[in-house]
Amino acid sequence: MTRLAGQTAIVTGASSGIGLGIALAMGREGAHVVVNFRSNEESAREVVETIRSAGGSAIAVGADVSREEDVKRLFEQTIREFGTVDILINNSGLQKDAPFLEMSLADWQKVIDVNLTGQFLCAREAAREFVRRGIVKERSVAAGKIICISSVHDVIPWAGHVNYAASKGGIMLFMKSIAQELAPQRIRVNSISPGAIKTSINRDAWESREAEEKLLKLIPYGRVGEPEDVARAAVWLASDESDYVHGATLYVDGGMTLYPGFADNG
Ligand code: BGC
Repeated sequence: MTRLAGQTAIVTGASSGIGLGIALAMGREGAHVVVNFRSNEESAREVVETIRSAGGSAIAVGADVSREEDVKRLFEQTIREFGTVDILINNSGLQKDAPFLEMSLADWQKVIDVNLTGQFLCAREAAREFVRRGIVKERSVAAGKIICISSVHDVIPWAGHVNYAASKGGIMLFMKSIAQELAPQRIRVNSISPGAIKTSINRDAWESREAEEKLLKLIPYGRVGEPEDVARAAVWLASDESDYVHGATLYVDGGMTLYPGFADNG
């Protein structure tokens, strides 16, 4: 399957978790993959090796998405290496949890900087390149695709995580607003909102049997997600198969947003 043949995809935060899964999947679909990392260079290099050894093409580029100069360098390096960029997976994100009364300004700011401002900086750079280049119809019917990785917490409030939920709620209207603004240039913008996916960000919530059982009460479909669940959706949203999908949020959450507490209550 080579649904992304010849296209170049930047995946931010691709050295672990959901980003890593998406990078591998895009490589398998024939994209040139830019594996962005902030600190875990070794893991990013392994992702690149995995893609290359399966016959794909990839490079690793270090950049902190919350820093404008880093983001500019990330795009410059990508364009130098592969000529342009066709797909941005705005994935980098982190949690710095604390009860509201104890949340420091630093922890609030860090989460907003990486999760929300990082998406702004990367999307702006990508959109500038898409507009400059325009449509290359041999590769895609769109001039470019932006996929924002959000969370079920763009609609589900989350006590003890208000910085994170605020950043994800922000991504929702950021995504829809740029979708509205960039549509005339044939730039397609969508979000994926994952539920509980087994990665290091939420290890405490699934590692022990008791924790997993508690978590499963929130997931009607009865299993915790894997990065590959999100990766498959990302490939589809990046490909021309989803060409008429624009400004949408796709919940990949096993039904977590279905208010499962109401199944036998209310
Ligand atoms: C969070 C995870 C959490 C999941 C479901 C994600 O966005 O990063 O920590 O398990 O939402 O609550």
